[in-house]
Amino acid sequence: MSASSSSRLPASNPLRRRYAIVGLGSRHELYQDGIEKVHAPTAELVALCDSNAGRLEVARGRSVRNGATVPAGYLAADFARMLAETKPQTVIVTTADSAHHDYIVRAMEAGCDVITEKPMTTDAEKCRAILDARKRTGRSCRVTFNYRYSPPRSQVKDLLMSGEIGDVLSVDFHWLLNTHHGADYFRRWHSNKKNSGGLFVHKSTHHFDLVNWWLGAMPVAVMAMGKREFYTPAMARRLGLTGPHERCQTCPEKAKCGFFMDLAAAPSLKQLYLDQEQHDGYFRDRCVFRDDIDIEDTMNALVTYDSGATLSYSLNAFNAWEGYTVAFNGTKGRIEHSIVESVYVNGTETVQGGIADGGVSTRVIPLRGEARNIVPWSAVGDHGGGDRLMLEDIFLPNPTPDKYLRAADERAGAASIAVGIAGNRSMQTGAGVRVADLFPDLGRPDYAPMPSRTAALPMPSRG
Ligand SMILES: NC(=O)c1ccc[n+]([C@@H]2O[C@H](COP(=O)([O-])OP(=O)(O)OC[C@H]3O[C@@H](n4cnc5c(N)ncnc54)[C@H](O)[C@@H]3O)[C@@H](O)[C@H]2O)c1
Repeated sequence: MSASSSSRLPASNPLRRRYAIVGLGSRHELYQDGIEKVHAPTAELVALCDSNAGRLEVARGRSVRNGATVPAGYLAADFARMLAETKPQTVIVTTADSAHHDYIVRAMEAGCDVITEKPMTTDAEKCRAILDARKRTGRSCRVTFNYRYSPPRSQVKDLLMSGEIGDVLSVDFHWLLNTHHGADYFRRWHSNKKNSGGLFVHKSTHHFDLVNWWLGAMPVAVMAMGKREFYTPAMARRLGLTGPHERCQTCPEKAKCGFFMDLAAAPSLKQLYLDQEQHDGYFRDRCVFRDDIDIEDTMNALVTYDSGATLSYSLNAFNAWEGYTVAFNGTKGRIEHSIVESVYVNGTETVQGGIADGGVSTRVIPLRGEARNIVPWSAVGDHGGGDRLMLEDIFLPNPTPDKYLRAADERAGAASIAVGIAGNRSMQTGAGVRVADLFPDLGRPDYAPMPSRTAALPMPSRG
């Protein structure tokens, strides 16, 4: 593949930054379109790489539709040659999670900066390899925490920074995935811990990053529990099936299964996955009740922070609605914030959720006096507008200085997965896990200065 598709390398424009993308599934499309359709004046996509020859060609076809110069295409085995021949300045990593570290380290070793999707990686050893390579090479490693850019979540950061509720002493945070989006993690590579780290890493990295960043603090210790009790063979039988079976396409009970996914009926899913199975046997529609799934669907964690705050967190993947509730309990009051999300399973446009008022609610409740409802900040686009704002922050040459420090680096990437990886360990052992025992040299991210809690507080009135 690489020989034929890389023989005509695109002409380079010295005014534009040169990017390559490795991992050409659904998520990479955000970056390819961002470069080729929105940020073409300052960015250029010079190479594409994937382990699947079919998806590689689909992505190259996307460049044609985007009206862009078609980037050189390389199979995964030719990644090093891709770097040498096309000389990208930045490599964007959007492979399955467990392969991130390999490409991040090799790209930095070759002199490239890196932008990686979350989670930065899946275990402590791979995380250490990334932190070491970052120090050794001096290249940058950005982790794309798009959730920080969602306007209502940036607004919560703004409220916390204003000091209105004082020092945060505890946080209650509960994330719900419904049976459209939540089930999707049990269909494919995410459903095995060796690929994704489980949902405590793959999904909760977003949530633990939000808490770390909202609090401006570092996690110290984690106590966790988890189980899989819904996406199981026993549940398939309780729901009246005889299965589980291997996959939806060939399932003898597809007509009566509420979790049936028709890859052939959704053109984008068909082209990206069904039509490319011949190359690598990656089935996008495996049964969500399979026996070989080894990730949890129900997780709870208690986390302590070096600011003194404690976090009570849960993640549930089979819920009736999708979204979250979070509450910050401070020395001067409480912030309650929740979002009911409209869920989109890539390619199927599944929308869920009883959204009465746009789905966003934020309230500030002082220890004394009236509570006030906050008019939420908003933006348009995927992930509540967060994806578009993040791309601007990445691809515009001189982004405006950001007082919320939303651009995340490898220290933030590590701090967020540290909680989930420690949680996984705690689930195994039944004991609390100190983060420093797994990650002895975790640096402090830019948002987390050394903690202090010394400011005098006004006495609440007696009324
Ligand atoms: N920030 C977000 O909101 C968000 C949303 C979706 C996905 N993601 C992340 O994006 C990444 C990709 O997710 P996706 O949904 O696109 O998955 P996907 O399965 O659709 O795509 C993954 C692609 O990587 C390729 N690949 C796998 N292993 C590889 C390897 N070793 N070398 C080269 N290519 C390899 C696969 O062939 C596939 O094309 C994941 O890390 C995921 O966590 C982030």
